[in-house]
Order: sequence, then structure tokens, then C-alpha cells
Amino acid sequence: MDVNLDLDRWLAATRLVVCVGSGGVGKTTTSAALGLYAAITGRKVMVLTIDPARRLANSLGLKQFGNEEHQVDLARIPEAKGELWAMMLDSRSTFDALIARVAPSAEARDRILDNHVYRHMADTFAGSQDYMATEKLHDVVNGGRYDLVILDTPPVKNALDFLESPGRLVNFLDERVLRWFLEPAGRGIGGALLAGTTAIVYRLLGYIFGAEFLDDLATFFRDFQGLYKGFVERHDRVVSLFRAETTSFVTVCAPTEPSIDVALFFQEELRTRKLPRGGVVVNQVHLCDGRSHDARAVLGERVAAIAADVPEPIRASVLARLGMAHRRLAALASAESALIVRLRAGAAGGGFFQTVERQEADVHDLPALAKVGRRLFRPAEPI
Ligand SMILES: Nc1ncnc2c1ncn2[C@@H]1O[C@H](COP(=O)(O)OP(=O)(O)O)[C@@H](O)[C@H]1O
Ligand SMILES: [Mg+2]
Repeated sequence: MDVNLDLDRWLAATRLVVCVGSGGVGKTTTSAALGLYAAITGRKVMVLTIDPARRLANSLGLKQFGNEEHQVDLARIPEAKGELWAMMLDSRSTFDALIARVAPSAEARDRILDNHVYRHMADTFAGSQDYMATEKLHDVVNGGRYDLVILDTPPVKNALDFLESPGRLVNFLDERVLRWFLEPAGRGIGGALLAGTTAIVYRLLGYIFGAEFLDDLATFFRDFQGLYKGFVERHDRVVSLFRAETTSFVTVCAPTEPSIDVALFFQEELRTRKLPRGGVVVNQVHLCDGRSHDARAVLGERVAAIAADVPEPIRASVLARLGMAHRRLAALASAESALIVRLRAGAAGGGFFQTVERQEADVHDLPALAKVGRRLFRPAEPI
């Protein structure tokens, strides 16, 4: 049997799971449920998350900031044989840590971290959580402390941009800025011209921002030039990590038209980028039992027996509403089925296909996560 159709075997052969999908569909929930399931079966798991709902963050014991690896207390899950760890990505400290790692010396590191230009740029890049996710991932995977890492990717609109984000940073520094500032002056005619232009622009910038800022800027770019190689190497390593045999991308979606369109898009992107596709999870599927919407026919006698003291018109009205709610639920379930059929056809060949029902309440504590995990790992079907 294809390894991807037996989810337990699939997970056993996987060391990095990357969950992708649009926001609000249950990507963070699925990441945490996968992680908990693996921890129950004895693995040492790290879930790297970005934006857990507050109550889920509380159950995982996650604090808002700090990039700290934190072990989740599994006392409420006595059958757990392994360990579950979680970390919330905090962009700013990830970026500072990155500088500290690639800086050639302690002096260079401090100079960059204290530099005004750096502080401003770090704030700008701190907004790009996708870049930080890949940065931290590189660390956690290479640290070798976990035998399974699950990355809950940020809800980026632009599909798999986060894969390219280290490259984007490198390109930004390389082409647009670094060269302009650092091209040695006097190299041929272009160099002389550049030196002239640079001198004028420098003076202009100095006039606008002040000499101190200019000094900061020049120092920053000089220091950053030394880091360039480090960035490129890390980027290459992250990209090969994503392509590794033990890596698997899981596309998570909800049974709604926009979410399924995004999921199909992801499946296609993964395929063309030759990234390993683990499978598709359709989360929050509505179930509807029974065909009849006539609540009076189905429940009338029982309601009359248990609520004999309630006046008949009230009983009738409650039953009528119940029937209407059931009819709506049936219509929703049937519309969702049609969407799921479309997704399944479009995602063919992309690994397992699994659905998880919408639970009665939000999934925010460990027992609820464990339940979702069990649903995820029931026998899957091929796409
Ligand atoms: N199968 C499910 N049944 C019920 N509620 C769910 C389910 N999956 C997720 N949720 C709830 O939906 C909300 C969004 O889930 P979340 O995992 O944070 O989405 P995302 O990470 O994709 O933005 C949360 O409140 C979560 O508890
Ligand atoms: Mg999320």
C-alpha cells in the first residue's frame, strides 16, 4: 500500500511536516493535533506556530513573545508516550538572533544590532513572518533535538512565498541596495560615474537625514556585506530541507469555495515546485444524519412525552424550527460534499485525503486536540 494512505506510516517516515493553507481553516489546530498525536505515539515533537487562538495558546502554555521552546504539559493525556514541545515565532528576536549568528565578530554583531538603520529594517522585516518562519525552522531542525517538527505556516496570501523569502531578502540586499552603496568607486567609466552620483546622493541624504544617520547607513551596509554569504548559505540549506525525502507538505482547507480554491492552488504549486506532497486535510466538515426534515414526524411523540406541560403551539413551533435547522444543515452538508468531490478530483496524486468533522465547540484544549488527531489518523483514502 502507498505509504501516504496509511497515515501512521506516513508520519513515521516524516521528520518535517509543513502545513499550508489559507487562514481561519484550522491550520494551527491541525498542526497542534498532528503534533499531539505524534507525541502520544512516542515521538519528540516540536510544533512551530505563528498565531494560535488565545485559548489554544493557553492550553499549550505558550506565551506571546520570546521564541522560547516550551514543553507542553501532557498530564491530561496519560497515554502520551513521547513529548510535545511548542514555540511561538516572534519575528523580531528571530531576526536579531540571525544577525548574531552570521556576524563575523562580536563587535560587528553589536554594531549592527545598535545601528539605527538596522533597527528600522528589522522592524520592517519583522512584519514578514514568513521569512522568520523559515529562519527559525532551519535552527530547530538543525538543532537535532526533535524527531518531528511541524511548521504551521503563516497565512500568506501569496501561496508558497515563504519558501522563497530568504531569497527575497538576499535579492533585496544584493541588487537594490548593496551594490549601489558598495560598488568600488573608480572601476571603469561606470564606476567613476557611480562615484559621482553616489557623492551627490550622499550629500543629499546627509542634508535630509543628518550626518549621523549617514554614518549609520554606511556602517550598516559595510557590516551587512559580510553577512551576505551567510544568508545565501542558509537560504540554500532551507530550500534543500523543504525538498528532503523526510519532509511532507500537508494542505489544510475548509469545505468552502474560496478555501478549496486556495487548496487546489497550493497542490498545484507544490507539484510544480517539486515539493513533497503529504496529503490534503479538509477540516470543519459538517455532518448531517437522517434524510427527513419533518421534526414533528420524527420527534413529535417523544417531545409530547417529555414536555407534556408545555403548551402544544409552543411544542409545534420548536419542532418546526428544528426541522428548518435540519434542512439547512442537510443543504450545507450536501454543498460541502460537492466541493469536496471537486477538490478530490483536482488534487489527485497528491497523497492522502482526509476529512475532519466540525466539532461541537472550538478546539482549544488538549483532549479536544487529541480527538481531532484521532480523526485525522483514521484510515485515509487515496485521492
Ligand atoms: N474541526 C474543528 N471543529 C471545530 N472548531 C474548529 C475545528 N478546527 C478548528 N476550529 C476552530 O476554528 C478556529 C480557527 O482555527 P485555527 O486553527 O486557529 O485556524 P487557522 O490557523 O487556519 O487560522 C479556532 O477557534 C479553532 O478552535
Ligand atoms: Mg493559524
